[in-house]
Amino acid sequence: MKLLELLGIEHPIIQAPMAGVTTPEFVAASSNCGVLGSIGAGYLSADETREFVQAVKKRTDRPFAVNLFVPEEVQIDQELFREAYEALQPIGEKLGMPFWKVPLSSSQFDQQIEVVIQEQVDVCSFTFGLPKPGNIKRLKEAGVLLIGTATSVEEACAVEKAGLDAVVVQGSEAGGHRGSFIGTPLIPLQELLQDAAKAVSIPIIAAGGISDRNSMTKMLELGAQAVQIGTALLASQESGAHPLYKQAVLRAEAGSTVLTDTFSGKMARGIQNGFMNMMQNAPIAPYPVQNDLTKKIRSEAAKKGKPEFMSMWAGEQVHHTTEGTVEEILRTFIS
Ligand SMILES: Cc1cc2nc3c(=O)[nH]c(=O)nc-3n(C[C@H](O)[C@H](O)[C@H](O)COP(=O)(O)O)c2cc1C
Repeated sequence: MKLLELLGIEHPIIQAPMAGVTTPEFVAASSNCGVLGSIGAGYLSADETREFVQAVKKRTDRPFAVNLFVPEEVQIDQELFREAYEALQPIGEKLGMPFWKVPLSSSQFDQQIEVVIQEQVDVCSFTFGLPKPGNIKRLKEAGVLLIGTATSVEEACAVEKAGLDAVVVQGSEAGGHRGSFIGTPLIPLQELLQDAAKAVSIPIIAAGGISDRNSMTKMLELGAQAVQIGTALLASQESGAHPLYKQAVLRAEAGSTVLTDTFSGKMARGIQNGFMNMMQNAPIAPYPVQNDLTKKIRSEAAKKGKPEFMSMWAGEQVHHTTEGTVEEILRTFIS
């Protein structure tokens, strides 16, 4: 069966899950346009995930996805933790907080999966790895369609072998975190898509730098059954991005984005700012510890209106992003 039929959508577009940016209004507006809305639930607890799902259901009766972060085991190296914290202190001081508490996050991945099943969510997508076989089996038995994320052909093959129904191939142009789970490949979308199309037989969704109808059509011609769009929707009315983040997106020029691990310990693409520059050679704790270390800095920067210390994830084509409602922006791709 073709991907659009499997997903129950009209247009070959998935609104990218964007943790911290997607709101119920944003996801529902996407689904109501006939594309697949996606909840970026990576940082949510199970209860928050349920509330979010129910809020979307109140606004649409169309299919949507929940996107989860596959958790990673990390050993905390106390020495590196201390060094990474100290490296952040000059930034903390600039924000008026020479010291701050760092509660370590813990994933509720298994409980989130139970929520997806109980709430009868149509689609569950994953990034940062593959769920365990038991989770895949439970979700499939419950009739949930499963989508993995790959940044190389090797990862795409692993997604197919694990039994997932479709794969997002994420090119190096993409905004936000790299979904990599075997090494740190960085392959432009066109090359990755063409090679993946030869290697896997599950439907492929192309992601990374798709900013208009032309780039979308090109990826569909090269073998993608759908595209996943993030950055193009970042400054929409329904997006939960901070107003100063939206402003930076709308003002961005070509070449504004870089890849960095300074915010979270995992490579991600965003608009280059003071934080990245100051932390360039600093010791960085592994993900998710670095993310925990910088959480208070990011929230304080947002509260105080200091975009130079906020993480403003965005893709290489950010300079094409426009204002408007989700519907107005999506219409430029599909009407
Ligand atoms: C702000 C932002 C947050 C993101 N968060 C997630 C996420 O939570 N889960 C995920 O699978 N991908 C996430 N991504 C990556 C997108 O799924 C997708 O790969 C990317 O947006 C495609 O490239 P584009 O931004 O150039 O459209 C995020 C991207 C952005 C820009």
